[in-house]
Amino acid sequence: MLPREQNELLTRTGPGTPMGELMRRYWMPALLSEEIPAPDSPPVQVRLLGEELVAFRDSKGRIGLLDEHCAHRGTSLFYGRNEECGLRCIYHGWKYDVEGNVLDTPAEPPDSDFKTKMHTTAYPTREAAGVIYAYLGPRDKMPLFPDYEWIQVPLNQTYVTKALLECNYLQGLEGECDSSHLSLLHQTFTPGPARAIWRLDTVPVYETEETDFGVRLVATRKAGPGQQYVRLSSFVMPVFGCVPAGRPPGELDGYEIHMYVPFDDTRAWRYDMGFRRNRAVTEEEVHRRKQIGPDYVRLRNVRNHYLQDRAMQKTVNYTGIEDFLNHDACATESMGPIFDRSKEHLGVSDKAVIALRKYLLGAVKTVQEGKEAPHMVRDQKRNRFPHIDCFADLVHADIHWRRQFDYLTATAEKENPAGYVPKQKAVS
Ligand code: FES
Ligand SMILES: [Fe+2]
Repeated sequence: MLPREQNELLTRTGPGTPMGELMRRYWMPALLSEEIPAPDSPPVQVRLLGEELVAFRDSKGRIGLLDEHCAHRGTSLFYGRNEECGLRCIYHGWKYDVEGNVLDTPAEPPDSDFKTKMHTTAYPTREAAGVIYAYLGPRDKMPLFPDYEWIQVPLNQTYVTKALLECNYLQGLEGECDSSHLSLLHQTFTPGPARAIWRLDTVPVYETEETDFGVRLVATRKAGPGQQYVRLSSFVMPVFGCVPAGRPPGELDGYEIHMYVPFDDTRAWRYDMGFRRNRAVTEEEVHRRKQIGPDYVRLRNVRNHYLQDRAMQKTVNYTGIEDFLNHDACATESMGPIFDRSKEHLGVSDKAVIALRKYLLGAVKTVQEGKEAPHMVRDQKRNRFPHIDCFADLVHADIHWRRQFDYLTATAEKENPAGYVPKQKAVS
């Protein structure tokens, strides 16, 4: 269980909260590129860390992320006119550029210099692999944009979806670090290799280790004579889970990154991004899109009880609900908007969740003490992360998971200073 004060500390992310301050030291996903697809396309509302913002792409393709409310008298710029390199408020026509400068105040006298004194909040953005990231923190603390592997591969080797999670971000993120639910929540009764492996051993042995980027999480299951099933994933600061999901069985190329970005304290955006180092992704790999409506709300959600089918629950899978995305959402949303962790009862299987909370609490304290937050990228020469990797594979029982992991990452470390190399073969 977690004392109430620590639960509050971990779950509140609005401006001025300790966790909010920590998260504002990182580049956070703000929206998908497809939401503002072209120059002068309609602006969209963005909700991030409890802030009300508006995003637009100007006539030159530059991205603006501004306070949603006009600096004049607060009308929403979401309804504004996106024209000629600026977003114009529909009330009295004030026009803003992507940096928050006021370009025009047509209701003021022509000789007025009022506009030169006005400015609205504008956050820096970066666009990579179909996602627009934003930095909401103090400018003098802004880190480099991390050059992760999934950003280096061509766009057709990546995919991304986003879906609203109707509970606090931490409930989703904890699920990402919790390997034990794989054998239960996601269990299917139909034949298949995954089913066989997960069901062989529902009591994995867990190991966790703190790293420079977050926490590495390892779950090892017995898998028949002479074999073990190793699943290694990573929590990456501040809200990313790198998991060996979304690949055909046995393939070790690429992985998925699930990001739980606070919308406010009782909702989060779940971004599921995946990449392949050596090939284009297939339509089948983005099957999750079928679960999400055009408003980024899952079609199966709490208002329709996730369309749970009790007959299916007897014969097809553990939940009677379709798709992992909905299983995770049902398990975490049904805890309530912000679960009171002082009421929980943690077991041995919660080791990784405990490690995640400990790391986050440590990071909050570090920032509160005025020190540098973990995983801040300041040096372009060190802006590469081949050691953030993950895999799930059958490995000989005598081979320690670290040997397999080292094998997968060694080539990247040695042979390519840029950090991107093919890595595919498993140790057998
Ligand atoms: S409220 Fe926006 S221009 Fe007046
Ligand atoms: Fe899950």
